[in-house]
Amino acid sequence: MNIDRNTAVDLLNKYVVTEHIKTHSFAVEAVMRALAKRLSPQDVDLWGITGLLHDLDNDLVDWKSDMSLHGKRTVKILKELEFGNEAMYNAILAHNPATGKKVENVFENALYSGDPITGFINAITLVYPDKKIASVKVKSIVKRMKETRFAAGANREAMWAIENTGIKFEEFAQLSLDAMKEISDVLGL
Ligand SMILES: [Fe+2]
Repeated sequence: MNIDRNTAVDLLNKYVVTEHIKTHSFAVEAVMRALAKRLSPQDVDLWGITGLLHDLDNDLVDWKSDMSLHGKRTVKILKELEFGNEAMYNAILAHNPATGKKVENVFENALYSGDPITGFINAITLVYPDKKIASVKVKSIVKRMKETRFAAGANREAMWAIENTGIKFEEFAQLSLDAMKEISDVLGL
């Protein structure tokens, strides 16, 4: 099975037309790579590329008619292209609970928690006067977690679930923030 990053980027560009989903995919890749290193030994490239592709079907499925299709469609595409492996497919399915696939290992847990924190950090960045991720402090990420009306769509339960991997939320926030700061130009933040 091919698990090459350049091919993954080509797939992302081919299937995802919504620009903010593309940048979100790069953010999740960065967070997944950081989590793989932190939870070493893990396959850093596999984790990163899975982050990059987890929302590949975003513009293909009709979310409103059937939420459970999100993830399943991505896996179907990847299997047909003989790209990826079972661990990748399971993580992609488990990031959307509507598929019925439960989070069963640390890799699946990382994607489940790493997905929402990128959007959450994005939303926090945009309330800063300069809208720059360089200005964001971990303290404000922790504080905003308790403000349930702020970025209400960001799944708090999924983000807290990082603690099931043994990483405390505050460290997760720091690690994710640092990973996103490194690619701030790609993210436009
Ligand atoms: Fe996502």
